[in-house]
Amino acid sequence: MAETPSPKQAAGYAAAKLVETGMKIGLGTGTTVAFFLEALAERIGQEKLEVIGVATSVQTAELARELGIPISDLEHYPALDLVIDGADEVDPQFRLIKGGGGALLREKIVAAASAKVAIIIGSGKRVDRLGTTFLLPVEVIPFGHATTRDCVAKAGGCTPYVRTTEEGEPFVTDNGNYILDCRFKNGIADPEKLHADLSQIPGVAEVGLFLNLCDIVFEGQDDGSVVTLNR
Ligand code: 5RP
Repeated sequence: MAETPSPKQAAGYAAAKLVETGMKIGLGTGTTVAFFLEALAERIGQEKLEVIGVATSVQTAELARELGIPISDLEHYPALDLVIDGADEVDPQFRLIKGGGGALLREKIVAAASAKVAIIIGSGKRVDRLGTTFLLPVEVIPFGHATTRDCVAKAGGCTPYVRTTEEGEPFVTDNGNYILDCRFKNGIADPEKLHADLSQIPGVAEVGLFLNLCDIVFEGQDDGSVVTLNR
């Protein structure tokens, strides 16, 4: 690791210390997770750790394979010891917005399958109210997505935008779905109610609100240190 790691790098390396030999580990998605994977690969090489990883995205599975981290799936390992993943926002109640990388559905399934959920973030992601610095991603099936979008807008009191690629095409998730990025004028007043309301809408595959799904947060600092927050 560089002498003064970036905040994301510091968080990823700190979380890698949670891993013990024999563990089945969920591997999140994103730039912070890439540092965690690097740190985990180093530990596997140096300490001969024996672990099995379950990836939350095709991108993470590819990176893990490149780094020599053994990969399996939830069919073989339905219950995991730990997942380490990133987040887009974290509030004081340890509620999260996730899905900036479009992997929220698999990330939530893997988080729910894990005995412990560790979140790694760089600076600037802790907020007093969710939805104030980041749009809320909602994964929807492509069939009837314009209708689903209108239902999400009405039920959520928000403005949803279909996420697009640089070419202007709808962004397609690993599950073949689309993402609605939802803007809330004054943030999300009641995340639990919003989650319940949006989850009821036909066509919504998953909501990027992670409630009761985070046990510990590692927040990297600009000076390379890490603040650890236990729920
Ligand atoms: C992907 C996610 C990511 O964990 C989240 O977007 C944070 O990404 P990064 O570590 O690149 O800032 O939820 O769906």
